[in-house]
Amino acid sequence: MRALVTGAAGLVGSSMVRLLSKQGFELITVDNYLRGQIFGPEGDTRPTMDALRKEARVDHHVMDVRDPKVGELVEGVDLVVHTAAQPSHPRSIEIPVEDFEINARATLLLLEAVRRRAPQAVFVYCSTNKVYGDVPNSFTYERVGRRYTPVDPTLRNGFDEGLRIDQCLHTPFGVSKAAADLYVQEFGRLYGLRTGVFRMGCITGGAAMAVEQHNWEPYFVRKALNGERLTIFGYEGYQVRDVIHADDLSRLFLEFFRHPHPGEVYNAGGGPTNSTSLLEAIELIEGIVGRKMLVDHGPAREGDHMWYVSNLAKAQRHHPGWGITIGLPEIFRGIYQAQMGRPVAAPPHGSAR
Ligand SMILES: NC(=O)c1ccc[n+]([C@@H]2O[C@H](COP(=O)([O-])OP(=O)(O)OC[C@H]3O[C@@H](n4cnc5c(N)ncnc54)[C@H](O)[C@@H]3O)[C@@H](O)[C@H]2O)c1
Repeated sequence: MRALVTGAAGLVGSSMVRLLSKQGFELITVDNYLRGQIFGPEGDTRPTMDALRKEARVDHHVMDVRDPKVGELVEGVDLVVHTAAQPSHPRSIEIPVEDFEINARATLLLLEAVRRRAPQAVFVYCSTNKVYGDVPNSFTYERVGRRYTPVDPTLRNGFDEGLRIDQCLHTPFGVSKAAADLYVQEFGRLYGLRTGVFRMGCITGGAAMAVEQHNWEPYFVRKALNGERLTIFGYEGYQVRDVIHADDLSRLFLEFFRHPHPGEVYNAGGGPTNSTSLLEAIELIEGIVGRKMLVDHGPAREGDHMWYVSNLAKAQRHHPGWGITIGLPEIFRGIYQAQMGRPVAAPPHGSAR
């Protein structure tokens, strides 16, 4: 079996490469280390790629996914896992055209290459819950304990894939990802390609890089370790996120490869069991690090979700062998251990995604 993984040096891409390598896949990888240019040395994924190349046999290409030549790499592949993306919402507001070129247009080029050169291949697309824009904020929530909870009890298992994606505020990032999300569905439904769309909330793991405005989990742990003040933006920390470990997500992608449902969409976050408010996460981190965190509160960011939990029922119905195996305590302990072995100075201001 042969697979192409784009964004292979990133959090999800590197997890997928490791998993596929163990399964005996021949691997072609693409990454141009754009992340390092966006977030600076602390967000650079080049060291991850260097480590990966020692662990797994990969045919790596330092290429930009915007380059149409990337399409030539799909020749003869059985699986494409497309994870490369311009990942930053604030940056997408500054560079909406570049954001579109990377997230939407490059995805369309890759789909078209698969249609022409490898129509039997399974195509996995990393979408995001940001395609739902600020629609989750149109529901009513109440404070229960140290978190928000939906007043409507039918929502408590999380949002399913029927949540609307339009007539709401997205940021250009949400729009470019939604455009690609729709193209991936369309190539499954119209052309019969074996495509799958996966909409995640917060993905993390020991390999996650702690940078401002992205990957809040390692960022919080870093702040705790350094004894630095952390600013939470909005909702006094009662906002709820669901967190999935990149390795659990990779297992879902592999299940989809084995049992593809062309053109389908899955909400694929941590689900109810891996949901946490930021206040609850801080308490968990304090227990692991063994010190109280210094927390300030700032104003809410526009469009930031008050509560988002993925309903995993469809993903599990289509892939009965799959479920969340890595819980929140293990996730945060893993991040803590990774950071103890990887000390890097934190940027000056704390933030929650
Ligand atoms: N991390 C999350 O919490 C999260 C949540 C929802 C969705 N997603 C989506 O999942 C995917 C993977 O996320 P991640 O956390 O692994 O991201 P990441 O930033 O860790 O990795 C992405 C990799 O893609 C590379 N890349 C970016 N632009 C490129 C380009 N133009 N050409 C080639 N390589 C390029 C980067 O250098 C990086 O190594 C992305 O599509 C992201 O939008 C992530």
